[in-house]
Amino acid sequence: MSCEILRVDVESPDPRAIARAARFLQRGGLVAFATETVYGLGANALDAPAVAKIFAAKGRPAGNPIIVHVAQPNDAKKLVKAWPALAQTLAERFWPGPLTLVLPKAACVPDLVTAGAPTVALRMPAHPVALALLRACNLPIAAPSANRSTELSPTLAEHVLAGLADRIDLLLDAGPTTGGLESTVLDLTTDPPRVLRPGLVTNAELEALIGPIDRSIPPPEDRQPIRSPGQMRRHYAPRTPLEVTLDSRRRVEELCGQGLRVGWLTHLAEGNTEVLRIVLAADAIGYSAQLYAALHRLDDAGLDRIVVEAPPATDEWLAVRDRLRRAESA
Ligand code: TXA
Ligand code: MG
Repeated sequence: MSCEILRVDVESPDPRAIARAARFLQRGGLVAFATETVYGLGANALDAPAVAKIFAAKGRPAGNPIIVHVAQPNDAKKLVKAWPALAQTLAERFWPGPLTLVLPKAACVPDLVTAGAPTVALRMPAHPVALALLRACNLPIAAPSANRSTELSPTLAEHVLAGLADRIDLLLDAGPTTGGLESTVLDLTTDPPRVLRPGLVTNAELEALIGPIDRSIPPPEDRQPIRSPGQMRRHYAPRTPLEVTLDSRRRVEELCGQGLRVGWLTHLAEGNTEVLRIVLAADAIGYSAQLYAALHRLDDAGLDRIVVEAPPATDEWLAVRDRLRRAESA
């Protein structure tokens, strides 16, 4: 299978390109598309054989449920047993946007999508291309990040093609995604609600709206059954061994002294260096937007090691720290 690539404008995507992508989805095909977080690999969420193709393309373990994307909150309501007031409050404030809500699923949602779980994860994305596609196909779209299982999420069309070019029908290339990290996954089936995966919506933002939440993100060990496999220890990982450390400059010098080829990722601009160094934004939002593209670049550079300066220990950096921890070699 060779993948068709259609470039689309972010603000006003060509309706013909969107209609073509929508037809692929309606006929059970796989379409990769930009969202405001990372690129997604989409299929009709109500079509189990189409969803099975997502698992096959990604090499995704069958125990890992997939987020279902909707065009509007009303469409989410059709996919759940009940739509609690809390979901309404959260959707009104954060949708469209990078917040995924986990709720008891309706019977129409195939078990394959939820990996056999009685719950479904739902989100309305904020990207004009994703929304246009959802409206055009008039279906909920099941879409994990468009990368092979355990690898780095894609923030550019090139990243999608590097991993999946021969496994998808069509790619809507809308350039770089702006958010750069995956959505926050919030479980509304527990009281208080629990963050299963930190993301671009922070704990502080959630608590300002709905009061205290359970911040104890499930531990990252692999486990059965997998409650939220974004929690798996090795996930979001480059192939090159990666370590996160305070005082990364000293560590880089030490490893270079051992003759290793080292790449250095930091948000602290300091002095010159001989090694391949990428300096990211010093604020959490800017850093998040650039992180995966930087890791893809470093990973493609044929290095022995990637050293990352540890980000600050504050709430706004939580999602970044979470992804870096999972990217670290065990
Ligand atoms: O930003 C995002 O969320 C991107 C874009 C494409 O929307 N999607 C994404 O999907 O990151 P994926 O499959 O890479 O991660 C989905 C996360 C996983 O941690 C998964 O375990 C969790 O959501 N999840 C999905 N359904 C769930 C459910 N029913 N219960 C608990 N966790 C669930
Ligand atoms: Mg993923």
